[in-house]
Amino acid sequence: MATNNIVWHDSSVTKEERRKKNNYQSYVLWFTGLSGSGKSTLANALARHLFETNIQSYVLDGDNIRHGLNKDLGFTDEDRKENIRRIGEVSKLFVDSGQIVLTAFISPFREDRQQVRDILSENEFFEVYVKCSLDECEVRDPKGLYKKARNNEIKHFTGIDSPYEEPENPAIIVDTETQTVEESVKQIVDFLVKKELIM
Ligand code: PPS
Repeated sequence: MATNNIVWHDSSVTKEERRKKNNYQSYVLWFTGLSGSGKSTLANALARHLFETNIQSYVLDGDNIRHGLNKDLGFTDEDRKENIRRIGEVSKLFVDSGQIVLTAFISPFREDRQQVRDILSENEFFEVYVKCSLDECEVRDPKGLYKKARNNEIKHFTGIDSPYEEPENPAIIVDTETQTVEESVKQIVDFLVKKELIM
């Protein structure tokens, strides 16, 4: 079907063929949570664990993506929405290429996360809520950003003067206030095995 003179080309190698060759499914594990909650740490620890067991995955991380693809975006609600929209599209391409994608974005708005879910098929999007209280994130303050936000040196900071909408029905909740990184990785791996997303 043509839209505005643009025609979709089907790939010569299908997603299903790629998955079969890999011997595992391709999908997105969407880590969401406050700044400092542990999204990147967990996504990277999981990627390392999967790699050691011969499963390829790729981490898309908010800070990193904002250095390149999304360097034109800031932290207004609109820019965050566009940030997540683009990452959703990129994730979809990764899934099509047979990869497991681990995304680590605050992604504070339910509607935006839902939009990503909607462009993927069933069993291709799993929300992982990286739960950690604002108080604890502020104590951790690994980049000193909460301190700056409290001093009005940063505007629109999530949890301070910009909202975070908790997931209502996430596939997994990891509580980084009470669990170690290893425990959280194990919890996620157990989920993937149970759902036959990895063997
Ligand atoms: S979002 O909301 O999903 O678009 O944000 P994301 O792309 O994940 O980027 C979050 C990282 O950007 C840094 N940073 C801020 N975060 C929140 N609010 C404001 N105003 C802000 N300014 C800079 C911060 O390091 C976030 O990284 P994490 O890893 O979440 O701590």
